[in-house]
Amino acid sequence: MAMVTHLLGLCLLCTSVVLADDSSYVKLHYRTPYDLLFFSDFLVNATFGSSSEEVSMLLSLDSADLWVIADNAVCYDNGTSEECPQAYGSYNFDSSNKVGGANDSSFEYPNYSSNDGFINRGVWGEDKLSISKDDVDLDDFKFGVVEKANLTGQDPYGVLALGFNSTSDDSSNLLSYLKAKGKINRRVVSFIHDNLTENTGYALLGAVDQAKFVGDLQSLPMVNSNMYPSNSNFSSGKFQAVLSELAINNLKSRTVVTKSSYPVVFTTNLDFVYLPPAVFENLAILSNANISFANFIFDCPKYDSSIYIEFNFNGINVTIPYTSFMFSFVEDKCNLGFTVQEQGDFIVLGRSFLKSAYVGFDLDLSEVLLAPRYYTSDELIAVADASTGVPDVTKASAYSSTSISSPTEVQATASAVKYSTA
Ligand SMILES: *[C@@H]1O[C@H](CO)[C@@H](O)[C@H](O)[C@H]1NC(C)=O
Ligand SMILES: *[C@@H]1O[C@H](CO)[C@@H](O)[C@H](O)[C@H]1NC(C)=O
Ligand SMILES: *[C@@H]1O[C@H](CO)[C@@H](O)[C@H](O)[C@H]1NC(C)=O
Ligand SMILES: *[C@@H]1O[C@H](CO)[C@@H](O)[C@H](O)[C@H]1NC(C)=O
Ligand SMILES: *[C@@H]1O[C@H](CO)[C@@H](O)[C@H](O)[C@H]1NC(C)=O
Ligand SMILES: *[C@@H]1O[C@H](CO)[C@@H](O)[C@H](O)[C@H]1NC(C)=O
Ligand SMILES: *[C@@H]1O[C@H](CO)[C@@H](O)[C@H](O)[C@H]1NC(C)=O
Ligand SMILES: *[C@@H]1O[C@H](CO)[C@@H](O)[C@H](O)[C@H]1NC(C)=O
Ligand SMILES: *[C@@H]1O[C@H](CO)[C@@H](O)[C@H](O)[C@H]1NC(C)=O
Ligand SMILES: *[C@@H]1O[C@H](CO)[C@@H](O)[C@H](O)[C@H]1NC(C)=O
Repeated sequence: MAMVTHLLGLCLLCTSVVLADDSSYVKLHYRTPYDLLFFSDFLVNATFGSSSEEVSMLLSLDSADLWVIADNAVCYDNGTSEECPQAYGSYNFDSSNKVGGANDSSFEYPNYSSNDGFINRGVWGEDKLSISKDDVDLDDFKFGVVEKANLTGQDPYGVLALGFNSTSDDSSNLLSYLKAKGKINRRVVSFIHDNLTENTGYALLGAVDQAKFVGDLQSLPMVNSNMYPSNSNFSSGKFQAVLSELAINNLKSRTVVTKSSYPVVFTTNLDFVYLPPAVFENLAILSNANISFANFIFDCPKYDSSIYIEFNFNGINVTIPYTSFMFSFVEDKCNLGFTVQEQGDFIVLGRSFLKSAYVGFDLDLSEVLLAPRYYTSDELIAVADASTGVPDVTKASAYSSTSISSPTEVQATASAVKYSTA
């Protein structure tokens, strides 16, 4: 039905049907600090304890434990140490009286982000957490209070973690907590960026929004590929699936960029789509782009808007307009939100992908949910059921094909797209 109403360009039912009880899903609104397309993180404002100070926290799949930087935290940087800069706000914490129910068992956040060796250390705290704009008020939430952090060239920030269970226990995992308190029925999350020109969006927990995608929402099993290095600089790598084909499609013809099956890793912490060198080079040749500093550069097309990049996930066809990935720093020169990575035979799907497709996860079933994105302010919230899961999800046609091939890329020889640059 979503498909039909989208084709008609209206959504009569969307505003009148209320499938969801307000208490069974949660929205966490984020803003990107810069207006630039893909570059900035998804930041959510929260307050801790009785403080009214808002702390901007990174919404992240790459952690299971929520943690916040203490106001007296010390930052280490190449042998020197100083009080941490606090551009994102901090938790009012005094280690001598351990406010907020903090206990002495240590908190260590593992290596993280695109820099290596980033370790946060501190203690466990327990306090009230409010994300007031989103009507989330948790009285006794457990979280890490970071007392020592490594600087990574960026001011340190807390993390609003949406990843899989922590290794310790599950009490500092927001999704598990919300489920245990009955605020959501199931640990389901999807990322809904308002549209490609806005710097706002939200993570929808416990439900999906059927107005925001085209056709059926389809599922794939998460995989745990050994091709994704555990010491990767990119992310924890827990949200993986298999991409079976990448193609360029101008709706008249399709040109395959790669037919090898690669593990793909979904992350909120990185901006672009990261491709292995052979795939990156093929995409450059087929797109008629030059490569400069690991980026595609081409003359901004006066646009043939019917060029698409087709991501095929074992039968799920997520076809995205080229323009969704396009941005420009220099007049008449365009870049694409794709870059190269040389750490192994895997693909990282960062925020440029999360904003351009409908991407969700069912952590209770270890499934990825995908569909082409439809941008609208209409809503059709479908709440996930504790036992039956997300409504109206169909399995990918090759759901069970989770194998990954050894890449055998044949270098492309000619451009597949002809832009008009007149
Ligand atoms: C978070 O707070 C900052 C500063 O008040 C504000 O500019 C920003 O819009 C807020 N973000 C959200 C998602 O409300
Ligand atoms: C990282 O922080 C630890 C303290 O937690 C410090 O001992 C170490 O030297 C720091 N590493 C760097 C590279 O600054
Ligand atoms: C770290 O400090 C050493 C010694 O002070 C210096 O030689 C080196 O360039 C510094 N490295 C960085 C990345 O700043
Ligand atoms: C973080 O990285 C360092 C250096 O790569 C490694 O020695 C350490 O064990 C890692 N810590 C964690 C918690 O993964
Ligand atoms: C301290 O907090 C951690 C993490 O929530 C928990 O595992 C541990 O049992 C707590 N210790 C005490 C003494 O309360
Ligand atoms: C993660 O937490 C959920 C909910 O608390 C629990 O059912 C599940 O067994 C946990 N999984 C692991 C691997 O710890
Ligand atoms: C993007 O979303 C905002 C807020 O929902 C809306 O005001 C604006 O018109 C949208 N822009 C486009 C190009 O759809
Ligand atoms: C991670 O990045 C650092 C510097 O950016 C590099 O030295 C290191 O080798 C990288 N790690 C891996 C696993 O590639
Ligand atoms: C790409 O490189 C060619 C050869 O160096 C050059 O002629 C062309 O102008 C470049 N195109 C762009 C968009 O920079
Ligand atoms: C994927 O969808 C596009 C657009 O609907 C279509 O042109 C293309 O043929 C589809 N690809 C496959 C493999 O079905």
